[in-house]
Amino acid sequence: MRGSLAQRPARPGVPDAIREASRRRTFAVISHPDAGKSTLTEALALHARVISEAGAVHGKAGRRTTVSDWMDMEKARGISITSTALQFTYGDAVINLLDTPGHADFSEDTYRVLAAVDAAVMLVDAAKGLEAQTFKLFEVCRHRGIPVITVINKWDRPGRDALELMDEIHDRMDLRPTPLTWPVGAPGDFRGVLDRTSGEFVRFTRTPGGSSVAEEERMDAAAALEVEGEAWTTAVEEHDLLRADGADHDHATFLAARSTPVLFASAVLNFGVGQLLEVLVDVAPSPTPHPSVGSDARPLEEPFSAFVFKIQAGMDPQHRDRIAFARVCSGVFERGMVVNHAQTGKPFATKYAQAVFGRDRATLDRAYPGDVVGLVNAASIGIGDTLYVGARVTYPPIPSFAPEHFAVATARDSGRYKQFQRGIEQLGEEGVVQVLRSDLRGNQSPVLAAVGPMQFEVFEHRMKSEFNAEIRLSPLGYTVARRTRPEDRALLAQQRGVEVLTRSDGMLIALFPERWRLANVQRDHPAVLLDSLVADVTARFDPPAA
Ligand code: G4P
Repeated sequence: MRGSLAQRPARPGVPDAIREASRRRTFAVISHPDAGKSTLTEALALHARVISEAGAVHGKAGRRTTVSDWMDMEKARGISITSTALQFTYGDAVINLLDTPGHADFSEDTYRVLAAVDAAVMLVDAAKGLEAQTFKLFEVCRHRGIPVITVINKWDRPGRDALELMDEIHDRMDLRPTPLTWPVGAPGDFRGVLDRTSGEFVRFTRTPGGSSVAEEERMDAAAALEVEGEAWTTAVEEHDLLRADGADHDHATFLAARSTPVLFASAVLNFGVGQLLEVLVDVAPSPTPHPSVGSDARPLEEPFSAFVFKIQAGMDPQHRDRIAFARVCSGVFERGMVVNHAQTGKPFATKYAQAVFGRDRATLDRAYPGDVVGLVNAASIGIGDTLYVGARVTYPPIPSFAPEHFAVATARDSGRYKQFQRGIEQLGEEGVVQVLRSDLRGNQSPVLAAVGPMQFEVFEHRMKSEFNAEIRLSPLGYTVARRTRPEDRALLAQQRGVEVLTRSDGMLIALFPERWRLANVQRDHPAVLLDSLVADVTARFDPPAA
């Protein structure tokens, strides 16, 4: 599994988009909070020598500089809310690492990012095994067919037995773990790994504070036995057990999200990070033609096309700009090109294209399939929208997730109503919260809906700091949202405890205080449409005629 891409010959005559796409690996690191996502992101970047000293990427409270935390609130809370993309080269490969927020309250943001990647790296804490978010995220990846590479992290600390962890993934996730490396040394005594492909021992040596790329030494089995004795013998025995059980890497089931290659690491010591990069290069898929709506997947060599998976405003307090992040699906993007916006049919000039990672921004002149383009001041562009050149294409909308928290927002100062409206509209478009309205409540008191309550805090903070509009939030007692249709509105509105509102994308949403109330209404009125909101945001999708 070592750097095979670097040895591939150049292919003359192959279109740029295809050649460049084959070099790309676009992925996200996902995990339950605290499994080590920020640490691993930093370690990956460090390993690729983008950032010369550990501590420069992530921005947990008390750590050094912050690249990916841009809001005061993030700094104060030590959380990372924004999603951005870090690009670096590794050998001949181009790695696009899309950042995801650490806190479960922002999981909707994470799900959007997952729509833009070709693979995911799932971090599991060796001591904790599978946790609540791990389950959910594995589920989402399976549902969306995203291949997952699993990294068992924190092996430098006492933790669970490696075989037991494999069983847990297999039994509870119904996902076959196929370790590519196997730890030598018990958790807490991490000596290195057995490379299951070559049978070699990769020995790790600690560097002070883990602040530079960890030293790795390869040796054959005989040398490993001499150096590590029983720890090596145990690793080999377990490796043989895995082999007998058929737990070897299988590319087809990996791509189908039915098996997951596993690596063992200590992100904080940079152990196993180099192997992860090699596995990404050798095993993770490069961009393939992206399915589109109503026609076949658009070939990579077709003219430029992309879809927007993230909108972010207020990233730079000096500029107050709004950036739409688009994942390139086909062709070559060149800054300055005029692209079509599928949802409005209008042209859009891309003079201000940027590559953005946290506070760092660079003008982006070219991008290829798998890359992320940040389009500045793309006011009319929304999440899930398609941009293209040449033959029209529309990519499927990005699923939004069912909110479980609801609150009425009102302006504290009625004199600042205009700012209040502008903020609600913009932050709603960005997907910070979902905005629901009804004639009954009126425009001055919309209902905000969120997957996690911390979204409200971010909303409140940004309304004040970016729009100068302080708001009052009054929580509502609903916990369940369902999609309904206009003909069912009147009947639902008559039901005790039920309210029907219109989401800003036009979808009618019925809110229920409890699941049992929903079940009662469904039982009493079986003809009424009450659909789950997950993976269903077709309302905005209304492309103009060709
Ligand atoms: P997250 O982004 O997934 O939320 O996790 P993060 O990287 O912030 O890591 C959470 C904690 O786990 C941090 O400790 C971090 O140092 C630690 N950690 C990450 N990877 C490893 C590892 O491989 N081994 C060990 N032993 N610890 C690891 P903290 O105390 O919260 O922060 P800090 O003060 O150490 O930075």
